[in-house]
Amino acid sequence: MRAVTWQGTREMRVDSVPDPEIVNQGDVIVKVSATAICGSDLHLYNHYVTTMQKGDILGHEFMGEVVDVGRNVTRLKKGDRVVVPFPIACGKCWYCSEGFFSACDNSNPNAEIVEALYGSSAGAGIFGYSHMYGGYSGGQAEYTRVPFADVGPIKIPDGVSDEEVLFLSDILPTGWQAALRGEIKPGDTVAVWGCGPVGYFAIQSAYLQGAARVIAIDRFPERLALARDVCKAEVIDYEQTDDLVELLKQMTGGRGPDVCIDAVGLEAHGHGFLAKSDRVKQALRLEMDRPTAVRQTIQAAAKGGRVSIIGVYGGLIDKFPLGAFFGKGLKMAGGQCDVQKFLPELLQRVLAGDFDMTSLISHRLTLEDAPSAYEMFCDKTDGCTKVVMRP
Ligand SMILES: NC(=O)c1ccc[n+]([C@@H]2O[C@H](COP(=O)([O-])OP(=O)(O)OC[C@H]3O[C@@H](n4cnc5c(N)ncnc54)[C@H](O)[C@@H]3O)[C@@H](O)[C@H]2O)c1
Ligand SMILES: [Zn+2]
Ligand SMILES: [Zn+2]
Repeated sequence: MRAVTWQGTREMRVDSVPDPEIVNQGDVIVKVSATAICGSDLHLYNHYVTTMQKGDILGHEFMGEVVDVGRNVTRLKKGDRVVVPFPIACGKCWYCSEGFFSACDNSNPNAEIVEALYGSSAGAGIFGYSHMYGGYSGGQAEYTRVPFADVGPIKIPDGVSDEEVLFLSDILPTGWQAALRGEIKPGDTVAVWGCGPVGYFAIQSAYLQGAARVIAIDRFPERLALARDVCKAEVIDYEQTDDLVELLKQMTGGRGPDVCIDAVGLEAHGHGFLAKSDRVKQALRLEMDRPTAVRQTIQAAAKGGRVSIIGVYGGLIDKFPLGAFFGKGLKMAGGQCDVQKFLPELLQRVLAGDFDMTSLISHRLTLEDAPSAYEMFCDKTDGCTKVVMRP
């Protein structure tokens, strides 16, 4: 089969590789009909997530048809059309039973690498996301093996297009969780850093969860336009202001947003001494992440406010404004998305038309286009806001 493989920093290749097979009797094989590139894939593309190996098959946003079924699978049969959540979860461990699927204790066979690197317990395995996240092959391929198939994939009713549901695999539930962890109260003002695909769904989710105002922050006109015109946020081009934190305060009666969501992650862009120092330190591996957005969320939040970090971070950061966090009595939450937990409700909401699922797709391509698609989505060229590929 054909599959998108990682070859090194900023080097992707579409290769012919062996077809996947059932390994455990709880697996299914999915024939992929649509797959997307995620902002998280860019952290692999730029090699900020370690333990990548040449030839690794990427991709964790995918859907398709079940074409082979392990003996122990009870919920799925050949011919079912499914969307697959990006975290791999057993459904039986303590964490899974608490709905904390992204922390599954049984799906990451390489947990000890994470434990050594982070000095703490590992989360779930993830499709196509490095060896420290389990070394699983991803969904940017013609076929993918899906373990724990009774727990993850959700069946899609007939008559719904791939594009209407593909983002249930990741970015929709991720945006939803970002808003939920902000504990939005009716009437709150929510600020969202980053108007990429995750920010796009975080904004829509924030309104559905009761926000009165959402202020969205980015610098690319096409992303700000989606946030403003489709998601109905007030937008700030942060290149047009010298003091974003001050501007946010002015826009909120001097208090700052009640909830600040970081949908940017470890590759934040920024100006000034701190941002430059982050860039140098990250390149030298003295600091793992560039936390411009994290710092600003904490500085901008109203006293007693909440900070929800959904952008991915991989390690240790400098100049964390702990004083502001403590002094203002903030609450902070983060984490990979527990996709499985939200899928039944979110599928119903998608079918009811609660979300705009497709306006963010700027490029519809084939798997063979992956190398240039990665480059374009990474560099934000050609107005690229989201790439969907078909094998
Ligand atoms: N926690 C999870 O489960 C989960 C799931 C999916 C994605 N993610 C993460 O969410 C983040 C965003 O993903 P995406 O697909 O939207 O990526 P993306 O790269 O398309 O979007 C990131 C956006 O942030 C903007 N940005 C950069 N620096 C900024 C700054 N200083 N202030 C404001 N905006 C800034 C960029 O211009 C870009 O539009 C990534 O870190 C990704 O890994 C997390
Ligand atoms: Zn993702
Ligand atoms: Zn589990």
